[in-house]
Amino acid sequence: MAGMQDTTTRIDTLVGDHARLLSERLQAHRAQLFPPDARRALRKFTSGEVAQLLGVKDGYLRKLSLEGKGPAPETRAGGRRYYSPEDIQALRRTLETGAKTPGTYLPGRRAGDKLQVITVINFKGGSGKTTTAAHLAQKMALDGYRVLAIDLDPQASLSALHGFQPEFDLLDGGTLYDAIRYDDPVPLREVIQQTYFTNLDIVPGNLDLMEFEHDTPRALSGEGGALFFTRVDAALASVEGDYDVVVIDCPPQLGFLTMSALSAATAILVTVHPQMLDVMSMCQFLLMTSNLLGVVGDAGGDMSYDWLRYVVTRYEPGDGPQNQMVSFMRSMFGEHVLNHTVLKSTAISDAGITKQTLYEVEKSQFTRATYERALESLNAVNGEITDLVQQAWGR
Ligand SMILES: Nc1ncnc2c1ncn2[C@@H]1O[C@H](COP(=O)(O)OP(=O)(O)OP(=O)(O)O)[C@@H](O)[C@H]1O
Ligand SMILES: [Mg+2]
Repeated sequence: MAGMQDTTTRIDTLVGDHARLLSERLQAHRAQLFPPDARRALRKFTSGEVAQLLGVKDGYLRKLSLEGKGPAPETRAGGRRYYSPEDIQALRRTLETGAKTPGTYLPGRRAGDKLQVITVINFKGGSGKTTTAAHLAQKMALDGYRVLAIDLDPQASLSALHGFQPEFDLLDGGTLYDAIRYDDPVPLREVIQQTYFTNLDIVPGNLDLMEFEHDTPRALSGEGGALFFTRVDAALASVEGDYDVVVIDCPPQLGFLTMSALSAATAILVTVHPQMLDVMSMCQFLLMTSNLLGVVGDAGGDMSYDWLRYVVTRYEPGDGPQNQMVSFMRSMFGEHVLNHTVLKSTAISDAGITKQTLYEVEKSQFTRATYERALESLNAVNGEITDLVQQAWGR
């Protein structure tokens, strides 16, 4: 045993060394994936993809471009036409002016509609929160909604998926913590960053967020007993008019951050991987959430919401026990379980390895059937959620 012991270094020194080593390697890895001078940009979309996004025929898009209406697509070999994300938004504006039903191409909020705040939770790690939040935020942005994504997880996976590497990019703060801290908070606008997705902004995360968990007990016991659960809501109120939808990716724990996000939420999405251990853990999660939110509610916290849905993630339809779990959940929670599921797919996990979503990657990198099945399942889930958003606006 003694031979295995490293008696010369202290644990803090050793862990610190490891952190620096890892940080260097990660930075090199990122430089390889995304050269520093090449600002990460979103690929262009084929006219077929754009037609599908807009719900029109490809031929109609060709006619528009021939008539010089709307943005001019880039034409590549074989006459294939490609549109940038800005072009897609410009097409939406063009089409909307001639639309019979207002909101067909620009489906966001109208006067009187309230900002939708969708909080993605579950304290089971790896249940697909970040994957779900990222694909939802990006799809809604592509669909013409003005979206703000908030990374509430100190691990910052959502930020990483959008090209932010918290340990290098956010050295002087820049997370939601700055806007919700008890002493000298900054306006939320100061920590919002644009992404390379048109219509999608992000508040990145990093370890600073942990401070909120440490500060809150002190603030609660201090003078006036600050109300922790109003802080996210209050920060969002300052940018209320700039967005249609806010998507909050929560950490896998039920701390003050998550509770504040729940209090700010108008909708809650609980991600569940349909396996016994995950569902048992979710039971604990729901009990704790109920107790804690009860206390927050009694203290005057806003507990109203428009909808709550469970979304089955990493689902393998061929797996008997998973099917039983899904049926079990449906029998208990009924309409609260989304009809569609996010299928387990190597297309999603492989895209994740290069810090991308399925909406970003080039289809040609994948087996066509694999890509399409995964995309279809994500689109179906996102479509159901979008319908719920529209319903909340009375449509
Ligand atoms: N549908 C899917 N198919 C295949 N892999 C998936 C799918 N969804 C998520 N994954 C992979 O599973 C892992 C965990 O997913 P994700 O990060 O979304 O979970 P999480 O709930 O946010 O985790 P954490 O609790 O750590 O924040 C990731 O590596 C991701 O790429
Ligand atoms: Mg996550």
